[in-house]
Amino acid sequence: MSTLPDFLRIDPASRRVSLDGRNPAFYGDPNRVYALLHVHCPTFYWEEQKQWFFTGYDHVNALLRDRRFGRQILHIATREDLGLAEPEPHLANFELAERYSLLELEPPEHTRLRTLVNRAFVSRHIERLRPEITELAERLIDGFEKDGRTELLSSFADIIPVTMIARMIGIPDEMGPRLLKWSHDYVGMYMFKRTPDDEHAADRSAKEFADYVKTLIAERRKAPREDLLSHMIHTEQKGQYLSDDELVSTAIVLLNAGHEATVHQIGNSVRVILESGLSPAGMFRDEATSERTVEETLRICAPVHIFERWALEDVEIDGIPFRRGDKVSLILAAANLDPGKFSAPLVFKPDRAEAANLSFGAGIHFCIGAPLARLELNTVLPILFRRLPGLRIAETPRVKDVYHFHGLERLDLTW
Ligand code: HEM
Repeated sequence: MSTLPDFLRIDPASRRVSLDGRNPAFYGDPNRVYALLHVHCPTFYWEEQKQWFFTGYDHVNALLRDRRFGRQILHIATREDLGLAEPEPHLANFELAERYSLLELEPPEHTRLRTLVNRAFVSRHIERLRPEITELAERLIDGFEKDGRTELLSSFADIIPVTMIARMIGIPDEMGPRLLKWSHDYVGMYMFKRTPDDEHAADRSAKEFADYVKTLIAERRKAPREDLLSHMIHTEQKGQYLSDDELVSTAIVLLNAGHEATVHQIGNSVRVILESGLSPAGMFRDEATSERTVEETLRICAPVHIFERWALEDVEIDGIPFRRGDKVSLILAAANLDPGKFSAPLVFKPDRAEAANLSFGAGIHFCIGAPLARLELNTVLPILFRRLPGLRIAETPRVKDVYHFHGLERLDLTW
C-alpha cells in the first residue's frame, strides 16, 4: 500500500477525499496525487470542492460523450428550478461575453455555431499555416540565440499561439500584448482561488475585449477580408447570420482557448523533454516520431486538468446517483495516467503507442483547435531543439500558482 503525503486524506470506503487544491505540494506535482487516486479511489467526493470527481480513463471518456451531461443546463432549466444565484451585476460584461461561447452552449445552438467556425479549423486548412508558424519560431529564436540563455515563456511560448490565432481571426500582430493582458484577466475567473479583484479585472477586460471585437466587426462588414471574422460575418446557415453578440463571444472564446493552453503546453513539453534525460534529437528525428513525442507530452503534462459537466437528468455513474442539476468534474490529466490504459503511466516514454490521450476532450465539445495546437507543437518543438541542441534547464522551473491550468510561470533555459 503506497503511503499518502500529509496533505492528502483518502477514505476508500466512503470514497471521500480531502485535499487542499491551493497547496503548492499538490499543484506543483499533481501527477503524484493522481497516481495515488488511481490506486485508492479513482471516483471520489472532493470534500473541499463539494463535488464528485472522476479520474478513470473509461469514465472520463464516456462522460465527455454522454449526452445526459452537458456544459450548460440553463437551456433546459431555470436558475430558480436549480436554486442557482442570479448572475452578479459586477460580472455583467463577463457573462455577456460568455453567453454564446461554444463552451457554454449545448445543441441546437452549439451545433449551429460550431458548424460555422469548424471549417476554418479542419486539418487541411490548418496545415497551410505551417510555413508561417515556422517563420515565426525561427525569427524568435534568431532574437535570443546569441544570448546563450532565455526565459522561454516570455520570449517564445507566449508569442506563437496568440499571434497565430489572432492572424486567423483577422487581428493585427501588434495587438498581441493587449490580447494577452485581456485573456490573462479573463481566465482569472476559472481559478480555484479567485478574489473580488480578479472578478473586476475579468469583467473590465471582457468589456474592453468585446468593444475591440465590435470595432473590428464593423470594419469587416464594410470591407471583408480573407479572415475568419469576415467568414463568420458573411456566412449564413439556413438564412440566418450570426448576431453581433454571437460573433463577439465566438471571437473571444477562440482567442482565449486558442492560446492559453498552447502556451502552457509548449513550456510543459520542453520541461518534460529536458528533464527526461533522453536525446531530443531522437524524439524529433522525423514527422512520425515528433507526433508521438508531442502526444506523449500532451498525455503526461496536459495544460488544462479539469472540465465540469452538469447532469441534465437523474443518472447513476460508477454507483453514484446524480440528480438533474448536479455538477461533476472530470480530471482529464488524471485519466491520461490510468494504469489500466498506460504502462508505467508516470514515466515519459516518447515512443509510447497506447491509448489516445484525453487532453483535448471528446464528444461534441472536443477541442476545435486541436489540429492547430498539434501543428504548432509539432512545428515549434523540433525547430527549438534543432536550433539549440545544447538546451538545458538553468533554474528549477516555477509552476504557476494555480491548479486548474497546469503551466509554468518561468522556464529559464541555457545552451
Ligand atoms: C494544447 C492546447 C489545447 C488544449 C490541451 C485544449 C483543450 C481543450 C479541451 C479539453 C476542450 C474541451 C472542453 C470540454 O469538453 O469541456 C477544448 C475545447 C475548445 N478548444 Fe481547446 N485546447 C487547446 C488549444 C486550443 C486552440 C489552439 C484553440 C483555437 C481555436 C482552441 C479552441 C477551443 C474551443 C473553441 C473549444 C470549445 C469547443 C466546443 O465547445 O465545441 N483550443 N479545448
